[in-house]
Amino acid sequence: MERLEVLMPEAVIQARIGELAAKINHDYAGKELLVVGILRGAFIFLADLVRRLEMPVVVDFVAVSSYGQATRSSGVVRILKDVDESVTGRQLLLVEDIVDSGLTLKYLSEYLRAKQPADLRVCTLLDKPDRRQVDIKPDYNGFTIPDHYVVGYGLDCGQHYRNLPGIYILHPDQDGGL
Ligand code: IMP
Repeated sequence: MERLEVLMPEAVIQARIGELAAKINHDYAGKELLVVGILRGAFIFLADLVRRLEMPVVVDFVAVSSYGQATRSSGVVRILKDVDESVTGRQLLLVEDIVDSGLTLKYLSEYLRAKQPADLRVCTLLDKPDRRQVDIKPDYNGFTIPDHYVVGYGLDCGQHYRNLPGIYILHPDQDGGL
């Protein structure tokens, strides 16, 4: 059986999101922000973050190909759903659940930069810098974590566990099923 070990309880996540929102409110004061969440993993983080933002906010989403049932990146990124909003000339904040190899974020930020936003920054809830394959650093980061596979608070394993309010380390079963 897989085993879940608490990494971050709900209250710790919520407190940190309050701090991130305060920074973003300060940095973008008086400007309209286009917040683009990366589906599916960022949907809960984005929902909690935008409710603490004080400037005018427009929300949009992109969907990219995920790892499927596997837990490690294939390095192949495919856009399954593009932004619906026009990006050109806007202040864009790309919201990600976790930066791992960095391949998804590098690809998406280059793709969106080509649409010429006034500014593009990245906000991630979690960062696993140990596994980085490309040179990319989020502008806003909730927590830097060691190289564990984590689930909960929007993050999945084979589409499960997204609904858990906290973040957990997923320990594979004895048979090495993961
Ligand atoms: P990257 O392209 O390797 O940076 O992978 C980023 C994406 O992989 C994230 O948006 C997640 O969907 C997924 N991912 C990476 N690490 C984890 C993890 O520990 N748990 C759940 N999903 C993860």
